[in-house]
Amino acid sequence: MQKVHITASHSYDVLIGPGLISKAGEYISSVSKPCRAAIITDDTVAALYGAQVKESLKHAGFTADLWAFPHGEQHKTMTTLAAALEWLGETGVSRSDLIVALGGGVPGDLAGFAAAVYCRGMRFAQIPTTLLAAVDSSVGGKTAVDLSSGKNMAGAFHQPDIVLCDTDVLGRLPADLLRDGSAEMLKYGMLVDEKLFDDLSSGAWKGRIEETVARCVAIKQDYVVQDEEDQGVRQFLNLGHTFGHAAEKCSGFTLTHGQGVGMGLMMASRAAGIDTEPVRRALLACDLTPECPYDAAQLAQAAYSDKKRKGGKITLVLPEKIGKCTLKTISVEELPCYFAKGMGETI
Ligand code: GLY
Repeated sequence: MQKVHITASHSYDVLIGPGLISKAGEYISSVSKPCRAAIITDDTVAALYGAQVKESLKHAGFTADLWAFPHGEQHKTMTTLAAALEWLGETGVSRSDLIVALGGGVPGDLAGFAAAVYCRGMRFAQIPTTLLAAVDSSVGGKTAVDLSSGKNMAGAFHQPDIVLCDTDVLGRLPADLLRDGSAEMLKYGMLVDEKLFDDLSSGAWKGRIEETVARCVAIKQDYVVQDEEDQGVRQFLNLGHTFGHAAEKCSGFTLTHGQGVGMGLMMASRAAGIDTEPVRRALLACDLTPECPYDAAQLAQAAYSDKKRKGGKITLVLPEKIGKCTLKTISVEELPCYFAKGMGETI
């Protein structure tokens, strides 16, 4: 088992290894004495792992309750959050109890936000069950729901007390969920770790899931420790995201976040003027489509309407080479130019 310690306003361990789901109660009891543990998850994950987590918590002396909402990003809303909070109240969960966020990015973000606001803030455990949640969203304390004005528009920084990442669960994931997580892993490689990038390009990482996830979490920790509230260097973690989010938006969100980020990594590389061939090869090796099906004008329009609201400036993350990137703050009026470069269009 690997352990990565996250140093933040509230510090905690991320444990990565096989069989952690069935021992969840034991590990959670290392950060909490027995209390009521309120598991929040979605219906898909509840059917797969709900009973196991509940049993394990009970075995460790906790009183375990579970609430599941319908799966899918379309349910990461204030309405679902309100239902989760009402359920916590009806179940008699108090401030000295604990919330367990079980699932991928959607249950993790929503349950984390519930933990941030219920009783003005509760302790919580993250149990990520997708690769994307394991290497990114379960770590670092960002919690949120979507508003009609945009994704993750309402949320809070609220760090968990422990993160349990079961590599057996990751090993059983279907190809599309592996692909989505790989995009974020490639991002970490492009930011600071050429060896990680090479392992993803060659597929070697698949024989070393535990070490690779731990490496990604350790890279994320380096940014979170310096800039927990995302005012400075944490913005490096947005590599591929401005470009990728525009592609997701143009698709009406039929492209997943991972697919968008994959295309975004390619566009960011091309916009920065580096050799895109290694990036293209790495994306293909991870089953991601390098080229975006939208043109620069469509993408820039999608990004512009988002970023304009944020005050006229946007910080792009641009690769200098694999393993080194730079931040560049531009005005939103310059976005079409960067999208044109990113799509290889002449301006
Ligand atoms: N997902 C990027 C971050 O946590 O900052």
